[in-house]
Amino acid sequence: MDFYNVVERRHSVRLYQAREVEQEKLQRILEAANRAPSAGNKQAYEIILVRDLKRKWLLCEASLDQRFITEAPVVLVFLASPGRNHARYGQRGAQLYALQDATVACAYAQLAATAEGLDTCWVGAFNDDAVAAAVEAPRTMRPVAVLPIGYAAEQAAPTSRRPLNDLVQNETVRK
Ligand SMILES: Cc1cc2nc3c(=O)[nH]c(=O)nc-3n(C[C@H](O)[C@H](O)[C@H](O)COP(=O)(O)O)c2cc1C
Repeated sequence: MDFYNVVERRHSVRLYQAREVEQEKLQRILEAANRAPSAGNKQAYEIILVRDLKRKWLLCEASLDQRFITEAPVVLVFLASPGRNHARYGQRGAQLYALQDATVACAYAQLAATAEGLDTCWVGAFNDDAVAAAVEAPRTMRPVAVLPIGYAAEQAAPTSRRPLNDLVQNETVRK
């Protein structure tokens, strides 16, 4: 699929079929995430691959009971891992770059999933501590995104966007 078709085709899907995600597709999605840029190439994030239903329920409860998390066959949890870049970048690395590294990797995974004919929904509304506990992450790591991946069981409605002339300003920020 052409890159711009992928971007156009990606919509948030909140209803999934029980159909499994093929291992080779998942592998390519994870490899795409691993190609994402990161500050100083430190890759200050971790990806937890969740298939266990009990753990998905914990993630669901940690995320305002968003049930579709339990229905997706695969859920990826992206965590900022500041310990990986702190030595080089200090507080800026820990507080900003690690979050950005995890965010970019999740965006790559999301688009790769679309390219594979799969669907996703970025979940960010969660209790950090509860998500961290669900995946048994150490306290030093901060959950950034939960990404259910599967085959859609609904036709997602395209969403609107701000017009470019509102979003993009030439040279200065409008007051
Ligand atoms: C940082 C972030 C957090 C989000 N959190 C949630 C969420 O908790 N639950 C949900 O259903 N969608 C969530 N979304 C998906 C957005 O609602 C969705 O991307 C937006 O409405 C645009 O729709 P589209 O993805 O179909 O283009 C989140 C997206 C982002 C980027």
